Amino acid sequence: MNNLETLIKSRRSAMKFVSGVEIPKSDLDEIFSISKFAPSAFNTQPTHYVVVTDNDLKEKVYEAAYKQYKVKTASALIIALGDTKAYKEISRINEGMLHLGILSKQEFDKEVEDVNNFYDSRGETFQKEDAIRNACLSAMQLMLIAKDKGWDTCPMIGFDPDVLRQILNIPDQYVPALLIAMGKADTTKERARGYRKPVGEFVSYNSSPVQQ
Ligand SMILES: Cc1cc2nc3c(=O)[nH]c(=O)nc-3n(C[C@H](O)[C@H](O)[C@H](O)COP(=O)(O)O)c2cc1C
Repeated sequence: MNNLETLIKSRRSAMKFVSGVEIPKSDLDEIFSISKFAPSAFNTQPTHYVVVTDNDLKEKVYEAAYKQYKVKTASALIIALGDTKAYKEISRINEGMLHLGILSKQEFDKEVEDVNNFYDSRGETFQKEDAIRNACLSAMQLMLIAKDKGWDTCPMIGFDPDVLRQILNIPDQYVPALLIAMGKADTTKERARGYRKPVGEFVSYNSSPVQQ
């Protein structure tokens, strides 16, 4: 089995974390420094991570997450936000390529115009959906990197986004996509992996799924 397959198969959503484990900032920095290589639409990089390690703040996030116990015992709570207006930064993102001559001025201007038109014309619902789409892709990669570095995770949607927004002062421009609890899993609480559908049930070639 190759390393990636082993890593993917060994990642589990932690049921419970060992409490009192501190995660070194250097470990988090290393994980994030690799996570930047995640793909994003037009390379707009709309994902922003809010990392909560402060105990008082963790307690508040625990409340916002409907008191799911694993949130209380996690070493870090990482909120993946999607920036609905990240596309407006497209000229800054591409500036280096312009200066290096990888993009001509004409190509650069066209990219900036096209990307702005793409998001402006599709409107706010699309901008929100796309922010979540990009943040979740990044978050999945983050969880695999964390696992590779010896840290367990649990992706979570069980939280009140309005309460979370209030607690963390999240500006309207950002949409909370996913809460990731990170720590050392208490493996005595690990369950057998849940049923997975066979490939034939979730993949169809040259056709759509049948309406159920
Ligand atoms: C989008 C998303 C939201 C989830 N929300 C929660 C959650 O709020 N609480 C929780 O305990 N687990 C949550 N999970 C974890 C799933 O229950 C878990 O991934 C699934 O049961 C499969 O188990 P595995 O990840 O160990 O393979 C979530 C997973 C995803 C992908």
